[in-house]
Amino acid sequence: MGSKSVTLNPEATGVTLGIQSDTAFHEETKRLQGRDLCSVADLTVGQMAAIMELAHAVKSHPEDFRHSLDARQMVMFFEKASLRTRLTFEAAINTLGGNAIFVDQTQSPLGERESLPDMAHNIERWMSLIVLRTYSHETITEMAACSKVPVINALSDLEHPCQAIADFMTIEERFGSAEGIHFAYVGDGNNVCHSLMLAAAQLGAHCYVATPRGFAPKLEIIHKAIEISEQTGGTITLLNDPIKAVTGADAVYTDVCTSMGFEHEAARRAPIFKPYQVNEELMSHAQPHAIFMHCLPAHRNAEVTDAVLDGPQSVVFDQAENRLHAQKAILLTLLGGAKRIPNSRERGRRRA
Ligand code: CP
Ligand code: NVA
Repeated sequence: MGSKSVTLNPEATGVTLGIQSDTAFHEETKRLQGRDLCSVADLTVGQMAAIMELAHAVKSHPEDFRHSLDARQMVMFFEKASLRTRLTFEAAINTLGGNAIFVDQTQSPLGERESLPDMAHNIERWMSLIVLRTYSHETITEMAACSKVPVINALSDLEHPCQAIADFMTIEERFGSAEGIHFAYVGDGNNVCHSLMLAAAQLGAHCYVATPRGFAPKLEIIHKAIEISEQTGGTITLLNDPIKAVTGADAVYTDVCTSMGFEHEAARRAPIFKPYQVNEELMSHAQPHAIFMHCLPAHRNAEVTDAVLDGPQSVVFDQAENRLHAQKAILLTLLGGAKRIPNSRERGRRRA
């Protein structure tokens, strides 16, 4: 988006991007009200910018949103384990005035006891929002197609959009903007990688992805990410060489070699992914100021060494913290509680 100008916020606590006028912010967030978030690609470039702005605002002014979602009910069905996603969604809705109900679905897949449309038509009578963590991405898109209330993807085999939003929020805090940064992802071309590629494209980053042969991101995601980058000035580069991807990088990201649902492949994958381990030697090819990122949980000394994960370049716990603020921004946007908090410079201008 040619008109997007990103500026560092002079306020003390982190970054709020001066990217949109009040009107643009309100139009973008209004269009998202009642919508689903199954994929990062469900958001336009402007909507992603608005969610980012809101995430920074809600982090610096949580008190301004304390009752924004009073009495809203959020149900979460998780077919897979979770620490960060579950707790940050629950904490987010609770601190916005709403309530979370968690349903452990790890013992029986969604759609087995009752069809997804029947579930959706029940849930929409009681709940304001549905959050799903599933094996199959189609479980999420089918529920979204049937349900009158918004559905959020809390991780599927294809994407992890809430993670990518929090991660790029972390990048914006560090660098002021993601526009033009060199973002390197090394490892499996998986769900997290897919959402990161799409988010990088939307925010105008130069995204380098290095995967072993046979583990590249899906073609549909590559095509979509390239299409988006053409609007934003970002680029998508796919490689097999981790050193090439990381050379000159501002941010180096990795994820587990074996995602949930692929555990039976762990032994086969281990030697294939060995050259993709993020260690001090690989990090030495990145910029001296480069940050190390991981969605967590990490398999220590497999895809990343302790020295990097616990080292001074690691921002993994900032990413984890930002899951909370990003979830709030997502919930507020989809449930109609978004509002713009002007930064101090704008407040001064309005008073004058
Ligand atoms: N990063 C992430 O989604 O963590 P959990 O699997 O613990 O939710
Ligand atoms: N790619 C990992 C991410 C976990 C948060 C998985 O799907 O298991």
